[in-house]
Amino acid sequence: MSPRFSLEGWDDGDQRLRRKKIRPQARRKLSDLTADESGEVADDVIRRLLNLGHISELVSELKSGKEATTYLARSEKGSVLVKIYRDLSARSFKNDGIYRAGQVITDQRAARAMANRTRKGLEMLQFDWVMAEYAHLWQLWQAGLSVPEPLVGPNVKTYAGTVPAVLMRLIGTEDEPAPRLSEVRLTSCEAQQAWQQAVQGMADMLRLGYVHGDYSTYNLLWWQGSVVIIDFPQLSTRQNPNFDLLLRRDAQSLSSSFRRHGVQWTGEQTLREVRRRAQGAGPEPRLCLP
Ligand SMILES: Nc1ncnc2c1ncn2[C@@H]1O[C@H](COP(=O)(O)OP(=O)(O)OP(=O)(O)O)[C@@H](O)[C@H]1O
Ligand SMILES: [Mg+2]
Repeated sequence: MSPRFSLEGWDDGDQRLRRKKIRPQARRKLSDLTADESGEVADDVIRRLLNLGHISELVSELKSGKEATTYLARSEKGSVLVKIYRDLSARSFKNDGIYRAGQVITDQRAARAMANRTRKGLEMLQFDWVMAEYAHLWQLWQAGLSVPEPLVGPNVKTYAGTVPAVLMRLIGTEDEPAPRLSEVRLTSCEAQQAWQQAVQGMADMLRLGYVHGDYSTYNLLWWQGSVVIIDFPQLSTRQNPNFDLLLRRDAQSLSSSFRRHGVQWTGEQTLREVRRRAQGAGPEPRLCLP
């Protein structure tokens, strides 16, 4: 059974949030991914994306995060952010239980393989995790939220073909990708705008029945006065028994991470405001033609 989540280690008041640091591993350099001496593309994921026509060129490595490495690429649709999830061997999935709680896996053999972390089980977990990010991205994009446009899909079979990569529109430009709110300096007026948008974004997700699960300035981009929410594999629904705890944790993370911008809301105040706004009207949905 998946472990229940506890709020241990999370402050409810004004102190900084404590969180375990996870060191990035298995970072893949651009040189490992692109042409080798024979002129062939060395990395099979990139080669597949090129062959399928989802990208025409890989430009640079953007960032190596705890879950995945992100790259900048080009396609006929414009600049693409390619998020490639880590190799299975570098990813433990040991913290996934809190997000996966409440999920029903009808195939008992698959459930056993995942629980026992066999090679096959890990592959299934990886596949689900990446597919979840696409599915959530599409849901939120179609509902009109401020998230990057997914660039493959919405047909599930189509985006399944890019796993372990997720392709979305690059926020910002090739020369200047959008920074995260955790790494910019804002005027007090900008900080207020960013805060309002971030709270609204969380409320918009709640109205749809979602909690982000890792909501803080580390997963909010800031571009031309707008907040864009990223990083969705762990999004949970009310089916998850940890839903309310995750919501509370997100409110706490959001308010704590905004302190450096001079915004002084407690987690509790933030949660109340998010719940209040979730009762109100949401954004205009986007019509996505296949
Ligand atoms: N659509 C996008 N446009 C521009 N930059 C992006 C986009 N998506 C992700 N990034 C950049 O890539 C980084 C990693 O992406 P993401 O947060 O989805 O993955 P992660 O593995 O969880 O990384 P982290 O551990 O940094 O949170 C982000 O912090 C951001 O800087
Ligand atoms: Mg992230």
